[in-house]
Parts: sequence; C-alpha cells; structure tokens
Amino acid sequence: MKRCRTILITSCKGGVGKSTVTANLGYYLAEAGSRVLLVDCDFSNRCLDLILGAESSGLYDISDVCRGTVPMSVASVADRRSSGLFSVSAPYLDPFSPDDSIPEEESFKAALETAARDMELDYILIDTPGALGKPLELASSVSDTALIVSTHHPTALRAADSSASALYSLGLRNCFLIINEFDAESVLVGNRVGIIEMIEKAVLPTIGIIPFSEEFAIGGEHGQLASDLDCRNVTSAFRNIAARISGNSVPLFKGWKNISRKKLLTR
Ligand SMILES: Nc1ncnc2c1ncn2[C@@H]1O[C@H](COP(=O)(O)OP(=O)(O)OP(=O)(O)O)[C@@H](O)[C@H]1O
Ligand SMILES: [Mg+2]
Repeated sequence: MKRCRTILITSCKGGVGKSTVTANLGYYLAEAGSRVLLVDCDFSNRCLDLILGAESSGLYDISDVCRGTVPMSVASVADRRSSGLFSVSAPYLDPFSPDDSIPEEESFKAALETAARDMELDYILIDTPGALGKPLELASSVSDTALIVSTHHPTALRAADSSASALYSLGLRNCFLIINEFDAESVLVGNRVGIIEMIEKAVLPTIGIIPFSEEFAIGGEHGQLASDLDCRNVTSAFRNIAARISGNSVPLFKGWKNISRKKLLTR
C-alpha cells in the first residue's frame, strides 16, 4: 500500500495566502501525477471551495465524514480541472457552541486514514485558519509536515516564526517556509533586501517563493487557479514547490521569466 503524506498549511497571521497556496499546490501536485485531497479546516471562515470554484458542488463536509454519515469519497468534490484533485469543506461553526462543530482528534485521524486508503491518496493538504487554536492542534495531530506561509513583510515573517514555535510545541518539527506575494520590483529598486538575506534571516528553511500577481489575485476571486490563467512565474513557483515536496532538488527560480536572478538574490 502506498504511503500518504499529510501536510498542513498555516500561519498565525491572516490573509497571507494559506488557502490560495493550499488550492494551487494541490493542483500542481496532482498535475505531477499524485492523488491529492484538500481538507478545509478553517471552521470559522471556510473558503477553499470558493478558491477552487466549487462552492455549490459539495453537499457534505468533513464533520459528516468524521461522524460516519458518508465516506470521504462521497463528501469530497472532484476538481473540474484535474482527475487527481479532490476537496472537502469545513462545516460552518455553530456560533453558540463553536467547539461542537470541530471534529474530535480520534475521529478526524480515522477519517483521513480511511480516505487515504480508499481513495488511494498520495497527499492530504490541510488548510488552517490564521490563528493558533483548536483547528491547528487538530491538523498538527495528523500531519507529518507543515508549510508556513508568509509574505516578505517583517510582521508576517515574525508571525511565521511564532507559528513554527507553536508547531514545535505540538510536536511537529518538519516545518518549511513559503514566501508568498513576493514583489521582485521592490527588491530591484532597493526597498527590500535580496532573497539570500531574507532566507538567512528566516528561522525556517525556505521551500519556495511565489510572486505577487494581480491577475492571480483577481482569478482567485473567480474560482480560478494559476493553471486557468496566464501567470507564468506563479505557475513555475507552484510547480517548483510541488517538485521539492516530492523530494526533487529544483533551483529557486526555475521556469521564471523576465527576472534578474542575480540581482534578486544578492541585492
Ligand atoms: N501570490 C499572490 N499574488 C497576489 N495575490 C495573492 C497571492 N496569494 C494570495 N493572494 C490574494 O491574497 C488574498 C488572501 O489570500 P488567502 O485567502 O489565500 O489568504 P489566507 O491566509 O488563507 O487568509 P485567511 O487567514 O483569512 O484564511 C486573496 O485575495 C488572494 O487572492
Ligand atoms: Mg484561508
């Protein structure tokens, strides 16, 4: 039986691109031949279905699977772009007793293990909310790796360090940094430090850099992934991260066009 890896995507800072990274990374892992399930664990603010353009497709959510109402193969929605990509929504939190809507650790673990076996999954990616708390604890209890998303703003990088500390104390040590919304222009004009200095300052090993793209931001509002758009550097960035997660060594800016690698690295 093949081994399924479970990877959580987090940051204790909101709005840095966790859900966007989860959806697009899942797509590019599937594009490379893997079978991937995306699990939305942002119980108070689910949005993966919107980013994937699948908001009216799912009748069930992860809590239905944990309760045993339906198997994951029924609760999950197959992506319209890729035959290897599936997603399952988070339930809406009951505002009067929010914790009741969060699955118990044991049933969550059992649901994911059964799904991995029955759906022959290679990867489960778990999207978490922009805060420490019960959803992150739940996700870390089943994950072997964490991808911590940050922009290159100092406040976001500090939040990434705090997330790593929290994950360490929850027993998850295999943590990597993704720098999202990277603005090459600001580095080239000297407003920001070069990549090498940024990577050296970060506590975590960097697994990838994703450029800022207006087209990608607008596409995300309409259920479009990078693959639906003409965002060459964003696509390359996700392909590179997917390859690194699969154990391949890939140059940092492989496939990026119209950038001065040397200037970006050493500025
Ligand atoms: N590389 C990028 N370039 C441009 N816009 C981006 C990029 N990544 C994410 N965004 C945009 O940033 C916004 C926030 O993204 P997203 O919802 O994925 O963040 P989040 O960290 O999941 O937020 P939350 O903490 O609320 O869950 C969205 O409008 C998204 O389209
Ligand atoms: Mg999110």
